Amino acid sequence: MHAQPLQFMQQHLNALHDRHLYRQLRTVGAGAEPWVEIDGRRILNLSSNNYLGLSIRPEVKAAAAVTAGVAGCGSGSSRLIAGNSERHLVLERRLADFKHSESALLFNSGYSANVGVISSLVGAGDLILSDQLNHASIIDGCRLSRAQCKIFPHCDVAALEELLVSAAQLEHQGKILVVTDTVFSMDGDLAPLAEIVSLCKQYNALLVVDEAHATGCLGPGGRGLAAQLGIEYEAMISVGTFSKALGSFGAFMAGPNLVREYLINVSRNFIFTTALPAPVIAASLAALDILQQEPHSVEHLQQLAAFFRQSLQQLGFNTLTSQTHIVPILVADSALALQMASELLVQGVFAVAIRPPTVPAGSARIRTSLMATHSRDDLLYALDAFERVGRRLGVI
Ligand SMILES: Cc1ncc(COP(=O)(O)O)c(C=O)c1O
Repeated sequence: MHAQPLQFMQQHLNALHDRHLYRQLRTVGAGAEPWVEIDGRRILNLSSNNYLGLSIRPEVKAAAAVTAGVAGCGSGSSRLIAGNSERHLVLERRLADFKHSESALLFNSGYSANVGVISSLVGAGDLILSDQLNHASIIDGCRLSRAQCKIFPHCDVAALEELLVSAAQLEHQGKILVVTDTVFSMDGDLAPLAEIVSLCKQYNALLVVDEAHATGCLGPGGRGLAAQLGIEYEAMISVGTFSKALGSFGAFMAGPNLVREYLINVSRNFIFTTALPAPVIAASLAALDILQQEPHSVEHLQQLAAFFRQSLQQLGFNTLTSQTHIVPILVADSALALQMASELLVQGVFAVAIRPPTVPAGSARIRTSLMATHSRDDLLYALDAFERVGRRLGVI
């Protein structure tokens, strides 16, 4: 007798339950604010990527609402058919100015941008060198490209160089693409970007940097890590998203004109999808305006993060290699991480447990992310809860 066609799903879910890796949706009221409503209670949100609080700024909301009134809610078509508007082009020009790049091209999400850029730049016969902790969308872009993909240990420049040397020794004929997050989303640490760029220059490699968590959060005016380090490299393509610090939705690549033109012609993630809606574009433009008017919020975010991280360390927590507004707290065991998150919630703090496969086995953690709109009192409230729960569970 054949098994029921859907039975494999129940078996898979049961196995996830057994390993404390089962996931379920939680409903968060107005989830982008520093204080949110969960199960009818007011809870401090330490799990949002709305790092500058822009998604709820009146200017951003008004821009989206007014534009919806004028232009409607859907763009109706892909950019190459009838979905392109002056607004899309204005936003791309603003992005290019913001990133000090020749051009920019919108994608519908950061996930789509990474998949679309990587799978367009390389293919069969090419080689990708990718950091071990790169985001899932980078991994999926690498897989879809059909290029050979070699993973180098996290932030290990020497290992990356070895891979480049060995490709040269083997007289690798195809293109070489190096790809890295600049701020790693689950560790909050920084890629050794200056060293990576100098290797790419030396070995003539293309470079894709994912500045999803750096855009609006690092560098002069929130322009990202490459800008902070003053890096310029003609074969560097930068990916950023509006969905995090910029408080809107959609994403972009910034780079040379030639890359933009190439992607418009080649990237399936650009060609075969409906253009971003006008209210979303308007919200993104308003968010960029605010970022330009309030560059100090970037510094403020990092100051809050440094205070929070150092206070956690003083309490005895292991914040791994975090250097930014993303501050993980290592718990190691998945079941214990889940218990810690649920006890923190009881104490009024929303900080999610991150478990494998999002992070490597044995490194389950609580991932916290700071917002420039958190007050010092908010953070003291959180630290108090972390101390009580951490001691009770033996994490400190
Ligand atoms: C490093 C990184 N890149 C890309 C993405 C995808 O961005 P988006 O949410 O806009 O799809 C995320 C998170 O979602 C991310 O953490």
